[in-house]
Amino acid sequence: MECEKVILTGDRPTGRLHLGHFAGSLRQRVELQSTHRTYIIIADMQALTDNVEQPDKVRDNILEVCLDYLSVGIDPMVATIFVQSLIPELAMLTMFFMNLVTVARLERNPTVKDEIAQKDFERSLPVGFLAYPVSQAADIAAFRATHIPVGADQLPMIEQTNEIVRRFNGLYRCNVLREAKAILSAVGRLPGTDGKAKMGKSLGNAIYLSDSEKTVSTKIRGMFTDPNHLRVEDPGTVEGNPVFAYLDAFDSDKDGLEEMKAHYRRGGLGDGIVKRRLNEVLQSMLEPIRRRRSGFANDPGEVFRLLREGSQEAREAASSVYDDVRRTMGIGYPNLRVSGS
Ligand code: TRP
Repeated sequence: MECEKVILTGDRPTGRLHLGHFAGSLRQRVELQSTHRTYIIIADMQALTDNVEQPDKVRDNILEVCLDYLSVGIDPMVATIFVQSLIPELAMLTMFFMNLVTVARLERNPTVKDEIAQKDFERSLPVGFLAYPVSQAADIAAFRATHIPVGADQLPMIEQTNEIVRRFNGLYRCNVLREAKAILSAVGRLPGTDGKAKMGKSLGNAIYLSDSEKTVSTKIRGMFTDPNHLRVEDPGTVEGNPVFAYLDAFDSDKDGLEEMKAHYRRGGLGDGIVKRRLNEVLQSMLEPIRRRRSGFANDPGEVFRLLREGSQEAREAASSVYDDVRRTMGIGYPNLRVSGS
């Protein structure tokens, strides 16, 4: 059991999940769930670190994100889907871990650094936001996760987790916590429909897994392509053209795609035809996802039941690690038990 492969991964519930999530991580989770003990965290506490003014948005998106998981084929009989705020041990572990990290180290975390710059926090930076990598380290450590399937932007979080794990094990001369490795998806970051480098919830350039057939085709029709490809006869550029980036990520007919690319580069292939192909590919991929989603969406009670059960199971796993941590540190007299603990 000690060497069992354990996956911990998840998302902040700040909106529905889109094609970028699907290419970058969801698809992989569906595959990995059959070979790895899989925990999937809906990180509402982490989402609060930059959404404290909209707690209801975070709360409502727990259901949406869970529906997205179920619709892509994450199987709640196999994988454990849980809600972060229902596991108080994660917050308690975070408190211990806070003492194992310096403010300077957090400020150097490249992902946090980018986010702080983007959001223009300056002096109004919430402590919770700066410290969310510590809480993420607790998420990972609490399940003794060995593998974290994530996008490249999450690599610094895993590095930071492993530093905390090594510091803890070193300081208390133990092997209680386990280091984790990232599993990066083969497909890199998916661009937005507007050609910007990142598809993002807040950027208005995403195709959602839950978008209707009509919405998807409208979004595809409006997609950015090669701005210099003015006439059909002109040679076009495939690189940086999001229509081809999506085809690369989702079209299983690789030979057909290579032919299309060659034709596009030569000239004589209109954007409309390439978009029509993309529409075919995406609609047939999304149709079963949409169908499954609406099945679950008709029965939110059942989804909440799954979340409750998953969280119960996750809590048992996390409390046992929390207890090991507490005991190893020698914190709390064993005979000082108050009810509820
Ligand atoms: N930081 C992740 C995101 O922004 C969500 C997350 C929280 C997570 N805890 C995690 C991912 C633990 C992997 C492992 O989407």
